[in-house]
Amino acid sequence: MESCANDECTLHQLSPYIGKIKSSIAGDLVRKYSKPGDLVVDPFAGAGTIPLESALQGRRAFGADISPYSRILSMAKLFPPNSLPDALRKTEVALLGAAALPAPDLRSTPLWVRQFFHPDTLREALNFATIARRPGNEFLMANFLGILHHQRPGFLSYPSSHLVPYLRDKKYPREDFPEMYEYRELKSRLLAKVQRSYKRFESAGRKLRRFNLSPVQQLELPKRFDALITSPPYMNALDYGRDNRLRLWFIDPTLAEDVDNDVTQRRKAFVDAISSLGHKVETGLRKEGYCVFVVGEETARRSESHPSEVVVTTLKTAAPSLKLKKVLTDNIPDIRRTRRECKGVKTEHFLVFKRN
Ligand SMILES: C[S@@+](CC[C@H](N)C(=O)[O-])C[C@H]1O[C@@H](n2cnc3c(N)ncnc32)[C@H](O)[C@@H]1O
Repeated sequence: MESCANDECTLHQLSPYIGKIKSSIAGDLVRKYSKPGDLVVDPFAGAGTIPLESALQGRRAFGADISPYSRILSMAKLFPPNSLPDALRKTEVALLGAAALPAPDLRSTPLWVRQFFHPDTLREALNFATIARRPGNEFLMANFLGILHHQRPGFLSYPSSHLVPYLRDKKYPREDFPEMYEYRELKSRLLAKVQRSYKRFESAGRKLRRFNLSPVQQLELPKRFDALITSPPYMNALDYGRDNRLRLWFIDPTLAEDVDNDVTQRRKAFVDAISSLGHKVETGLRKEGYCVFVVGEETARRSESHPSEVVVTTLKTAAPSLKLKKVLTDNIPDIRRTRRECKGVKTEHFLVFKRN
């Protein structure tokens, strides 16, 4: 499958998210299984890919997720400033606000966080995060998180990977690559990042857009919706808390690292989540409406049941009026996988249900 990185709306590229689906796939699903004006629901919104595509295609979008990182990205994508000049102005104001704050004492920052940054860069990052955490500043926070760690010059950290925060000090030792350990100014990098976010910007119109920070078990879905399109957590293949730990720390230093451990780690929790969602779909999805699950599968998985089988079996009981209409399979090439050597997800199943 072709990469869509060069023609998708650049809001999709605000900041990486493990397990994110391709925007072109999200767009196809939205077009195929809903109509303009429909209310499309995604209770496992992650990076907000499906809600953003829904909004871009003239649908009303309702997203939810358990992760505060998902909330930031989804809000940033659903409610961005109207234009690049507007976004740059807001960024400049926030930078001024951050510069006016007293210099933070780094001794109150945990060592594992300090290890990623030059002290002067870290002071700027801490102050900027203080401003970006204020309600309404999600777009600024998302852009800041998008340049938080990587080894390229446009990023803030010492050499480290982009998706999952690991220092690459063995590959790039300080003695051989001193320039990679120098102070990295925040302002110019952030303004450049905001410019990149608007490279291919489309306004998503004014249709209803909402995001709820909530585990699916406690989520209140809209009373009536036209379609549900979602990709649930992959049973135990990914750990969203651990893999986003540095970004989560900047979003809220008091957050535990394993926000959703209990849900993604165990089969029972996966079944509970799908079952609870099934009950809500049974009452909320309109007749003839579609319910689409994009489910990651690991071909070599040694467990006796596969996530998509679990979804089908669980929904049979929880949402008896849903009928499975179609199952499609997409093999994920290495380049798209989030961690190549991991024994993680290698195939995606698209389960298309329709309500009787
Ligand atoms: C496969 S990812 C979704 C990816 C998304 N479609 C995208 O394009 O970024 C699954 C999401 O489920 C969320 N999640 C895990 N357990 C959850 C729960 N109990 N309730 C709601 N969301 C949960 C994770 O935080 C993660 O964002």
